[in-house]
Amino acid sequence: EKKEIFELDGRQYTPDALYNLSPAVRRLLDRRILQETSNPLNLLKRRVVDYVHQTYRKPGNRSPLFTICESEPRVVTTYQNFDSLLTPEDHVSRRPSDTYYVNREHCLRAHTSAHQHTLMKQGLDAFLVIGDVYRRDEVDRTHYPCFHQIEGVRLYTRDELLGKKSDASENAAELFTVPPDASRVPEKQESHSIDAVKASEIQLKQFLESLCDELFGKDAEKRWVDAYFPFTHPSWELEVFYNGQWLEVLGCGIMEQKLLESAGVTDKIGWAFGIGLERIAMVLYGIPDIRLFWSKDTGFLSQFAGKQPGEDVKYKQISAHPQVIFDISFFLPDSTEFNDMTSDVYDTIRTIGGELVEQVKLTDEFENKKKAKKSQTYRIVYRSHEKALTKEEKSIAHPYAAQSIIICHLHILLS
Ligand code: PHE
Repeated sequence: EKKEIFELDGRQYTPDALYNLSPAVRRLLDRRILQETSNPLNLLKRRVVDYVHQTYRKPGNRSPLFTICESEPRVVTTYQNFDSLLTPEDHVSRRPSDTYYVNREHCLRAHTSAHQHTLMKQGLDAFLVIGDVYRRDEVDRTHYPCFHQIEGVRLYTRDELLGKKSDASENAAELFTVPPDASRVPEKQESHSIDAVKASEIQLKQFLESLCDELFGKDAEKRWVDAYFPFTHPSWELEVFYNGQWLEVLGCGIMEQKLLESAGVTDKIGWAFGIGLERIAMVLYGIPDIRLFWSKDTGFLSQFAGKQPGEDVKYKQISAHPQVIFDISFFLPDSTEFNDMTSDVYDTIRTIGGELVEQVKLTDEFENKKKAKKSQTYRIVYRSHEKALTKEEKSIAHPYAAQSIIICHLHILLS
């Protein structure tokens, strides 16, 4: 009955009776918080990407080995999201109570793995897929209908994985076994040779352990746990001991050969992993609630703005009370440069305003060349941890008073 067109990422879809996107989810689709540079998820993403680029280069030249895919359409076919990944026909994840459907053939991607098939088919053999994914889950402190993943895929030819065959080594290992000894066992798939699987496993685990060291520090204890995914075999999860508990960091495994075959790849073996960003960002930055990633409160975002991906950032709980904002503008003393005063102004405001000052920011600079006058504007954001502030209250504990005193002190500073 829903006749109107659903449009996302520049493509159009015709909803049918299966359509189950709530207005709230449609609003989430419009936000793109991973692209916002002051969002901690963006900080974490850049950290992973920088690390992967620095560490893995194409042999022979210095260009990055991994292609970064960040703009895949977020509506995918059910083939991409489920069938191409060998998800059984009756699997729970296919139910409309678990997945957001646009129509019978299209849904919001429930994981970045949904793009594996398409990207392999395009000929990529080392790539990261990064983006927002959607699941109809319970909502609590650690679950939200939208979260973010980084997928990694690496395919190897025989020579890339096992080294060039020399004449001497007639028994050189192959990627695939020769029947009749081909069988599926816990260690490997039927078509794979044990040598190729072991070599891939070593590469995969080294890659992910070093990534984990980069994020959590070399001293953090790690452990591999056997896991199950329909699209990898064998499969593992990597856990890290951090802040006194074991944290599941990612899922990974040797890709099912059928996936590669259906994407037209016949002479390679590969591994894949998937990392959920929210859970890691929560422990790394000390963010207590997943909903905070969606906060537009500058008290939250300003704590991450301008930070470098490698910097140690710990979130300080912001107050639930509203902000009160004042802008201050003044002329600089004659013949001072713009930069000369800035840190003194910051210091004065913080000293006088104390705990009430949540943020100070230089928002504007202006120079009147004729009169040789320079002016600056600063924005001061006040917020109390104890009570709601009003501009009118007169006590020193309130920004109106603090603001007047700051102005007095700035007068002295500037004269
Ligand atoms: N797609 C899986 C998930 O969302 C993670 C995964 C990716 C596991 C790649 C193995 C390989 O849980």
